[in-house]
Amino acid sequence: MINQSEIGKAVDILRRGGLIAMPTETVYGLAADASNPAALLKIFTVKQRPIDHPLIVHLADMEQLPDWAIDIPDFAIALGQALWPGPLTLVFKKAPHVSDLITGKQSTVALRIPSHPLAEALIRAFGGGIAAPSANRFGRLSPTTAAAVREELGDEVDFILDGGQSEVGVESTIIDVSAGYPVILRPGMITSQQIESVLNEEIITPQKKSPRVSGSPASHYAPHTKTRLMKSMVIPHFLNSLRHNDLPVAILTYSMCPLPQEDVEWIMMPNNPQQYAHDLYQTLRELDKKDYREIVIETPPEDLSWDAIRDRLQRATF
Ligand code: TXA
Ligand code: MG
Repeated sequence: MINQSEIGKAVDILRRGGLIAMPTETVYGLAADASNPAALLKIFTVKQRPIDHPLIVHLADMEQLPDWAIDIPDFAIALGQALWPGPLTLVFKKAPHVSDLITGKQSTVALRIPSHPLAEALIRAFGGGIAAPSANRFGRLSPTTAAAVREELGDEVDFILDGGQSEVGVESTIIDVSAGYPVILRPGMITSQQIESVLNEEIITPQKKSPRVSGSPASHYAPHTKTRLMKSMVIPHFLNSLRHNDLPVAILTYSMCPLPQEDVEWIMMPNNPQQYAHDLYQTLRELDKKDYREIVIETPPEDLSWDAIRDRLQRATF
């Protein structure tokens, strides 16, 4: 299943300071050698990302943690042991050598051990840490397939390692452990409840305390087409009020029965959060390629298991 010659090629490019696209279980990453500042700078250029937005360093196993982090708390080890490899990122106090380009000049570093077999094989063969933000232009939808990476970045990435469609579909849960207690900085498909059940204590939830996280400013994870959230009970009224226009409206629903109407295209989304997250970015990306007047997304449930999806949709529709 793992193509060793492709891994070898990717490792060569990383060692020479190039950029590759790395599949992970969450989304595809734009990967560079985390210890090579010139390579890291290329990430910011290609993504058009502000230089002070910190990057996640991807590792193969927990033995590598002390190469990048200091003062690692016991509860963080417990989280890592329970949930790594997987869609979890922990923010630690940084080791002295870690580049300002990775930390955004903060005193912390974000580390993640991904579970995608190709990512694991790549990081292991490379031997060091791999810095990788999502492989999209700044502010846009993260790619969940190799084809989506190519659409986003074209030949500005030296090589794309194709690992199929990302299983999880939205970015990792980020937890800051650097203050000695856990704070969720970005919700993901690993929920606050799962974290609490590992730690056996309540944890500080998003929004209440939020250092610099690049998902945080206004519009992010956004299609180009105008996109908004709408409660299901409002959608029929909205449809009634539509005036004819050259372009149709797309409605994404997980719970409604499509009401056939001219100028309206219904897209049925899965009604369980794992499958919804898996499909979300790819669906929006496909819709964005067509000409819609706007994309209307049914507001997702309040349930905790939908936290990550609500978070991304709120940013996409800001
Ligand atoms: O699932 C993921 O996390 C994907 C895959 C490729 O691993 N990566 C990803 O990277 O989403 P990116 O750069 O698109 O988002 C990483 C987030 C950013 O919002 C960044 O601000 C935050 O992590 N971050 C990185 N280092 C941090 C730090 N030291 N303190 C606080 N936030 C940090
Ligand atoms: Mg991103």
